[in-house]
Amino acid sequence: MKALVLAGGTGTRLRPITHTAAKQLVPVANKPVLYYGIESIVAAGITEIGVVVGGTAAEIRSALGDGRRFGARITYLPQAAPLGLAHAVRIARGWLGDDDFVMYLGDNFIVGGITGLVDEFRRERPDAHILTTKVADPTLFGVAELGPDGQVLAVQEKPENPRSDHAVAGVYLFTPAVHEAVAGIEPSCRGELEITDAIQWLIDSGRSVRATTITGYWKDTGNAEDMLEVNRVILAGIEPAVEGLVDDASRITGRVHVEAGARIEGSRITGPAIIGEGTLIKNSVIGPGTSIAANCRISESEVESSIILEGARIQNTGRITDSLTGRSVHIIGDGRTSHTRRLLLGDHSKIHIAS
Ligand code: TTP
Repeated sequence: MKALVLAGGTGTRLRPITHTAAKQLVPVANKPVLYYGIESIVAAGITEIGVVVGGTAAEIRSALGDGRRFGARITYLPQAAPLGLAHAVRIARGWLGDDDFVMYLGDNFIVGGITGLVDEFRRERPDAHILTTKVADPTLFGVAELGPDGQVLAVQEKPENPRSDHAVAGVYLFTPAVHEAVAGIEPSCRGELEITDAIQWLIDSGRSVRATTITGYWKDTGNAEDMLEVNRVILAGIEPAVEGLVDDASRITGRVHVEAGARIEGSRITGPAIIGEGTLIKNSVIGPGTSIAANCRISESEVESSIILEGARIQNTGRITDSLTGRSVHIIGDGRTSHTRRLLLGDHSKIHIAS
């Protein structure tokens, strides 16, 4: 069995971050989202991995390499334009051959992994096996209508009048029957070859399509709020560790990981939080749900429930919360503001905060 990981796309919902970076590489608890997916694929016993790449191919390649660090062998499959999830299957046809495969959306997050799902597919081997989860607003998702024994009766993409509240999560298992389906469908009105149309094609052709409903946590990290939520969920389970230096004037409470080479001076860190390698936190307050990446300098500021990417300079800013900031941002304040700021900043942004 092989795995097809989708790491192309445009990432419009995460702009401006995605103007200069791949959304699948935004770190959650200081580790790229994509790594969690690759690790769960390898944990399920699959080591032949094809990664579909688009405009950010170079960045994805340098982050994953040949896959050896994950115990896998990675082949890159360039997609000339993000023409849909089923289009990604089409371009991977030659590499997939006649193997069964799991398709994993590189920006999706499943706590608890996919081993159970892969084992179930291997045992029962329907033509397609999808993962669903109940959501509050099914109009935003692919939606599956389920029969009593887990068979899928119909799938619809972002329906106006959903027939169920089961959203299709970003992990799909297929036999080679899917290739006939993706060859048989036409682009949707948004111009993409939809994987839901390919699955519906299988159902209409009398093929077996099954679903497993996950009870655990699943998230598509397509926008900043979801990314911050996943960050909070993952941080809540980290192992506390102080590998860097914390001075006597600082106080650390809760689950906090201070990575090697980080320095905490005159500051209060309330977990769950992670402070990256080589980062300096000085006379500041870092609140729960915060990941600060490597080589940042934060002084006379307060940061809570945020993801701060590497190389940030944050100085005299007052309170920053629920924010996602790109690499090497400069956020400088006059130290007098009492306002709370919420920021979504692309790489190298420069912001001056006045009171
Ligand atoms: P999406 O989040 O559905 O699409 P997107 O990345 O274009 O984002 P947005 O809607 O914000 O513009 O894609 C799910 C995953 O699949 C994501 O990791 C990107 C990847 N993908 C491809 O590799 N090729 C494609 O043609 C598409 C549409 C997505």
